[in-house]
Amino acid sequence: MRIEQFRYAADNLAYLVFSGTCAIAIDPGAADAMLAFARSQNLTITGVTNTHLHPDHTSGNARILEKTNADYLDCRNLADNEPIALENEVLTVITTPGHTHDDVCFFADDFLVTGDTLFNGTVGNCFSRDLDAFYHSLKKLMALPGPTRIFAGHDYVKESVEIAQAIDPDTPGVTQYLETYDPDRVTSCLADELRINPFLRFNDPAMIRRLEQRNFPCDTEMDRFKSLMQAF
Ligand SMILES: [Fe+2]
Repeated sequence: MRIEQFRYAADNLAYLVFSGTCAIAIDPGAADAMLAFARSQNLTITGVTNTHLHPDHTSGNARILEKTNADYLDCRNLADNEPIALENEVLTVITTPGHTHDDVCFFADDFLVTGDTLFNGTVGNCFSRDLDAFYHSLKKLMALPGPTRIFAGHDYVKESVEIAQAIDPDTPGVTQYLETYDPDRVTSCLADELRINPFLRFNDPAMIRRLEQRNFPCDTEMDRFKSLMQAF
C-alpha cells in the first residue's frame, strides 16, 4: 500500500492511499492536485472518505465525487476493524472517538492516517469532551507497531515540539525528531511519538515525576492522561 500526502490551506494534509491502480482519497481538501496526481499515475479513485467531518477535512469531497465515479464512505458508518479493499490489499478502519464522536483512523501495513486524533508531536483537541473515549482511542493506536508511519490531518510539528519542550525540557530525542521534519512530507514513526509526544508519555517515569511535582492527579494511567490533557 502506498500513500501520497497533499498540503492545502495553511496546514491541512490530505491523502491518496493506493494499491495497484486503485486509490482512496482521505480528507481530500487538495482535490485538484489529487485528481492530477491520480491521472499522472493512472490511478482510479474508487472511494472518498474522511477521518472526521470537520469542514476543513471534507471540503474536497464534492469535487472528487463530481470528477470520478468514486463511492462516498461516510466515516460515521465505518466500523472498527472494517476492511476497505484496494485491489489485493486492505486498509483497516480503526474507530477513534475523542476529537469528535465520529473520528476514525486508517491503518495499512506500515502507516496510519490519523486525522485530528494524533498529530506529529501532539494530539487533537477533545471537542467531544469524552476524555475516556479519547484515552481508549489513543491506546489502540499506541499498540500498533513502532515503525508505523504517522500521517496526520495537520502539520503542527514546530509548535507541538515547542509545547513538548515547555512541558518537559528534557524530552528525549526531540532534536533528532525536529531534524527529520520535512514540510513536503510530514510524518514521524509511532515509536518517535511514544518518546516525544507529551500526551502519549503518561507512563514515562520522567513525565510522571513532572506531573507529581505539579500536584496533578497521577495514580492511574487514565489520571495521568487526563492531567496532561487538562493542564496543557
Ligand atoms: Fe478536526
